[in-house]
Amino acid sequence: MSRGLFLVFEGIDASGKSTQARRVAAQRGALFAFEPGDTPMGAELRRWVLDAATRMTPTTESLLMLADRSHHTTTVIEPALAGGRSVVSDRYYASTLAYQGYGRGVDLAELRAATAMAIGSCVPDLTLLIDVPLEVADERRVRNHEDRFESADLAFHERVRQGYLELAVQGPDRWVVIDGTPSEDDVAARVDAVLATLAWPDE
Ligand code: TYD
Repeated sequence: MSRGLFLVFEGIDASGKSTQARRVAAQRGALFAFEPGDTPMGAELRRWVLDAATRMTPTTESLLMLADRSHHTTTVIEPALAGGRSVVSDRYYASTLAYQGYGRGVDLAELRAATAMAIGSCVPDLTLLIDVPLEVADERRVRNHEDRFESADLAFHERVRQGYLELAVQGPDRWVVIDGTPSEDDVAARVDAVLATLAWPDE
């Protein structure tokens, strides 16, 4: 049996990545996954790490994200892929590099080493970065309640966005940047054009 394909959607909050990730997973019959919080333990970690009222250092925040990722990888993502099922995840290791590394200033080399410990060899086949300028994301955001990240300042979100773009430049073979500014349908068409070039195991 061939291994499933592992796709990840990344981007700043309200970039439209979640919509695309869910759509692609449904269309391809792949497992939809997300971080943080996609397991019972992860849901507890998510509650802690997003709670704007809980004070924690950027290092603690990183380690909670990585604990969620390690558990998610070993109990959900890797077993699905090994069983031949493709997985589409809304966020993965690059979120920690972008938000905690570029955004909060946690040392990137240390984050990469900890990431290797958390995910082992389970690296995405392709990461699709849905890139939008901050103003566009801000217009799309629904403000009912703001978590720790949504309430962070604009400069933080700009560092996260630029961090993602830098990561994409560093890994051209496994990253694609898609302009997320056009309509949802236009973005979907661009995503589908990229995905049509991949070798899906069940085809
Ligand atoms: P997400 O669930 O994608 O956002 P939403 O609430 O819009 O659906 O992610 C929640 C927040 O967690 C988001 O602001 C990004 C942040 N995050 C990190 O800072 N580091 C990480 O490693 C991950 C996975 C998420």
